[in-house]
Amino acid sequence: MSVQQGAFDTAQLADQVAVVTGAGNNGIGWGICRHAAGQLKMHVLIIDLHENLVQSAVERLRAEFPAILVSGMRCDVTRPEDLQWAAKQVSARFPGKDIGAVFANAGVIFNKTIMKSSIEHWRTTLDVNIMGVLHTIQAFVPLLQAQSCESIFSTTASVGGLVRGDAGAASYQASKHAVVAMTESLSYELAVKSPQIRFHVLCPCIVGTALGETSRINRMVKTGDLDEAQVHVPQTQSIGDLAQTPDAHARQVFDHIAAGNFYMITENKRPYVDHDFPFDAEAIIQERMEGVLKMQLDNSDALNRNQGRQTSSILKGPLFQEVARRAANHSES
Ligand SMILES: NC(=O)c1ccc[n+]([C@@H]2O[C@H](COP(=O)([O-])OP(=O)(O)OC[C@H]3O[C@@H](n4cnc5c(N)ncnc54)[C@H](O)[C@@H]3O)[C@@H](O)[C@H]2O)c1
Repeated sequence: MSVQQGAFDTAQLADQVAVVTGAGNNGIGWGICRHAAGQLKMHVLIIDLHENLVQSAVERLRAEFPAILVSGMRCDVTRPEDLQWAAKQVSARFPGKDIGAVFANAGVIFNKTIMKSSIEHWRTTLDVNIMGVLHTIQAFVPLLQAQSCESIFSTTASVGGLVRGDAGAASYQASKHAVVAMTESLSYELAVKSPQIRFHVLCPCIVGTALGETSRINRMVKTGDLDEAQVHVPQTQSIGDLAQTPDAHARQVFDHIAAGNFYMITENKRPYVDHDFPFDAEAIIQERMEGVLKMQLDNSDALNRNQGRQTSSILKGPLFQEVARRAANHSES
């Protein structure tokens, strides 16, 4: 066991600050904010890309939890100076409070194969998903190092950062593998110097969010095709009740933190979902690791087609079998 892991009493986070990037929509970051405020009595700093998203999230959280301090900052995580500025603002916005947890969570996805994706999709994905995490680390870890209390620093990768790539979003998976590698390195680098910081890498499976749509909206603002003032929180686009809700997902995140799990794989399993169709990350990760050790890449999943649908080497566990079964029933009726 690493010196930074082991059980952690999350009650000690009360009255401390949670900093969460990518929390302005109704996704994973927002669920973490609600859990931190509602269950742990933490104060919350919400960071996201657009002023109106940040302000509306701040207002919603303040209205729901009036006893805690909530602040928001518009930052582009691809700009190191934005995050350095945000880190400098924390002591003024939350006077006398320690930072209990930082979640480097902002991310984008563009579902394209390598041959069909543009250089710009790749650059944006690597910039937000990798460099954005790096900038958050470099801005906030020094604040945690300066504190004597224990604290949490969590990066958001994906289960996609632990399994092989397939015919989905190659740029996304490449970026998430990098987040896993960065977080492992950081944990090792600071194990002796700053053992009070507990590093974690969050590897969600399927959470009901609008990640694809928020990525599209953010890109439209960047290219000038959408006015920033028109940005709104989109509808969740995921697979209905088979996905975890952001609230249930946040419970699982803090259960992992309490258990001291470095790799926080948040599975679609009870009690965090109300069904028995798991993503089955364990089997899919094991398959990859066994292939690596045998020095073989098995592409047999690419050759199997299921009722006309392209199969995947990743999205193939009981959860996606159930998605396929429901889609087939729907098309028959
Ligand atoms: N939803 C899932 O099933 C799932 C699975 C695995 C990993 N993830 C990861 O979880 C994280 C949160 O995604 P989500 O699913 O909650 O979707 P989401 O769209 O709610 O969250 C992503 C947030 O990042 C923000 N963002 C994007 N670019 C930014 C930038 N340059 N600066 C600041 N903020 C920026 C977006 O505005 C958005 O609010 C992402 O890193 C994503 O890759 C999600």
